[in-house]
Formats: sequence, C-alpha cells, structure tokens
Amino acid sequence: MIYARAAGLMPGGVNSPVRAMRSIGRDHPIFIQRGEGFELIDVDGHRYVDWVCSWGPLILGHAHPDVVDAVTSAAELGTSFGAPTEGEVELAAEVCDRFASVEMVRMTSSGTEASMSAVRLARAATGRDPVLKFAGAYHGHVDGLLAEAGSGLATQGIPASPGVTVAQAADTIVVPWNDVEALEAALAEREFAAIIAEPLPANMGLVPPAAGFLERVRELATESGALLVLDEVISGFRVARGGAQELLGVKADITVMGKVIGGGLPAAAYGASRSLMQRIAPAGDVYQAGTLSGNPLAVAAGLATLENLDAAAYRRLASLTDQLATGLRAAADGLPVSVASVPGLVTPFFAEEAPRDFAGASACDLDAYGRFARALLDRGIYPPASQFEAWFVSLAHDAAAIERTADAAAEAFAEALS
Ligand SMILES: Cc1ncc(COP(=O)(O)O)c(C=O)c1O
Repeated sequence: MIYARAAGLMPGGVNSPVRAMRSIGRDHPIFIQRGEGFELIDVDGHRYVDWVCSWGPLILGHAHPDVVDAVTSAAELGTSFGAPTEGEVELAAEVCDRFASVEMVRMTSSGTEASMSAVRLARAATGRDPVLKFAGAYHGHVDGLLAEAGSGLATQGIPASPGVTVAQAADTIVVPWNDVEALEAALAEREFAAIIAEPLPANMGLVPPAAGFLERVRELATESGALLVLDEVISGFRVARGGAQELLGVKADITVMGKVIGGGLPAAAYGASRSLMQRIAPAGDVYQAGTLSGNPLAVAAGLATLENLDAAAYRRLASLTDQLATGLRAAADGLPVSVASVPGLVTPFFAEEAPRDFAGASACDLDAYGRFARALLDRGIYPPASQFEAWFVSLAHDAAAIERTADAAAEAFAEALS
C-alpha cells in the first residue's frame, strides 16, 4: 500500500498535516491520482465530489482547460528565470484593480510567507513589536502567529507548537473573535504593530464577523496606531471580486493573499498603499525575497484563473454556495447541525447554533463530524477532514454535484448522530 511506504518516508505520510485525515478518525489518507472538474479520482479509481478543491485555490475546479493551457504554454518558455517577467506586472495590476486598499504588491510562494512578511512590514512601519491576532485564526505556520490563547489567556500568547520561542509567543496576543471588550482591553494594555485578522475566518470552520465587529476592529486599529492586516488568503478573489474587503466594506492597511491568486500553483502576495509598500526592498529597507516568487507558471495559472472570475462567475458561485448550504440544511433537518455560509464557503457545524468564536467551534461535536466525514467518503463525497475547515465551492460544481452531496449527507448526518 502506498501509505505504508509514504509513512516511512514523510511524517504521517503527508506533506501537510490535515491531509492525513487523522482528525476524522481515519488511519491513512486517500492518495489522489487526478482531478476532473468537481471530481477527485483516487489511486484505486474511486471518484469523489470534491469540496476541498486543494483547500481553496481551485475556484475553477480541477484541470480547468484555460489554466492547463496557460501553464503548459508558460512551461514551454521556461519554468523560472529569477528575473522579472511581464506576467507578474499583469497579475500585480489585476490585484490592484480588484482591491481598493492595494496600490502595490509583492508576490511570494506561500500564504505563510506573505503573512510573515506583512507582519514584518507592519513592525517596520510602526516601530512596534507586539501583534494581536484572533483565536482560531490561521495565518500560516509563522512562528509568532501560531500562538493561540486558551480561555482566560486573552492577554498572554502561549506557544501552540514546540519550537516556537517564548519571545515570539510573548509578542503575540490572542483575543477571542467577535469580542469587542477583549479587543479593547488588549489594546489598552499595549501598543501593537498590527491587528491581523481573517475578515471571514474559515480556519475554525466558517465564523463570519458579528454585525459591526470588523468595522470596530478597523476603528480600533486606526485609533491605536496599529496597522490592520487582513488575511484574505481564503476570502480574496473568492467571496467577491475584491475579496472580503469588498463584500464587507472594510479596508485593510495591508492585505495578505494566496490560494486563488496562484490558480493551484504556489503563489501568494501581500499588498498595501504605495507609501507602505515602498518600504519593501529594494525600494526600501525592509528585507524580503524569494527564489521562486512570481514564478512564471504560477503567475500564468493565477492570471488564467482571475480572467475567468468576472461578475457573472461570482453570481454563479454565490448561487451554488446557497444551493449547497440549503441542501445540507435540509439533509440535517431536525438534527443538531447548523450551516454557516458566505459566497464560496460553507461549514456544517455539529452544534444547534453556528459558533461565534473558536471556543464555540471547539465545543462542536467533533467526533460526530468525523463520523459524518467518513460516511460521506464512503458515499463518494470528499469533505474537508476537519470540523475546523470550510468547504470550498468551485465554479465546476453544478446542481447534480450538489444533489449527490445532499443525498449522501442526509444518510451521513443520520449515521453520524445515531
Ligand atoms: C487564512 C490563511 N492564511 C494563511 C494561510 C497559509 O497559506 P499557505 O498554506 O499557502 O502557507 C492559510 C492556509 O490555509 C490560510 O487559510
């Protein structure tokens, strides 16, 4: 079996932990051979309706012909030059056109690098060290951003992983999402370089901001002199043309982007006003670099993806999302399940009410989610292998895929909660 070989060669047999599927109680991951539109096909030939879509990048679905053609054509010209290309300029222009708060961008290869660099820029610009993040938010595996408070530890970051230094953790203060009082209290105690937030948090399952919360975060950042870093690695290019900032009407000082921007190849970016971005080397003194940053294949895939994301595409994505959320709600009728959704993202929570914060998400019946996910896999539906991840809707999904999912979900909910 491939897994036995993989587990001897790579920790857990995988290159990123959630792929191992342990949190839904499986003892090995599913090895994928290929993807077609909304379907994944595993090495044994099983077909699944894919609601993970590579955790977000594949908003057009698998192997979209425009993306495959763009990558193939780019590869024929050379795979990397370590020198600027015209495609990067086009992609930068597209990003600046979509995000009202972004006048210049710097591309990186991963969201982790982009959020790490955004925090560095915020520290340089403010001359302050501490960073405030929200519990349950994920900004990549940056040392300082792995810190996450347990309940009652709202003012003291603790290392969430061995290997994170005490100093890095101490510079990160964690407050509960949707809690204005905790935020005000933390801001009264220290001067922060940045408040970093996922504007539509999707790494504790989807937990949108309560009415007025994000607006208050924006105000408090400005009043306190902290820069507001909005991590749109998931929401950017997905929930609206201009990301959560357009959908929710809140502007970031620095925006972090990833996933869709690379169309399934490794690309991410951060961007801000011209004056802030001029601090980045070589224009300015804040160092940040990358051998494969702005890689021509990734840029080609990103551009081909964004070219498909016009107003009609966003309307269709929102409609498909509504259909999926409605289908899951109907499938769970009468059961203690609540379904959160925003355009392009859905989470069925195993709780009567959708959570407002990480404590609420953690209080969901995680074992039931595990049983539900396993029951779906048995029925040819591939959900995220964790209650704490969103389901990603793509433009390749259709009514038939959603109906297949809702039918399987009705049985899977009943099986999970019996
Ligand atoms: C909101 C958010 N920020 C940052 C990251 C890190 O991106 P990457 O995995 O490309 O390093 C992720 C990854 O899932 C994410 O969801």
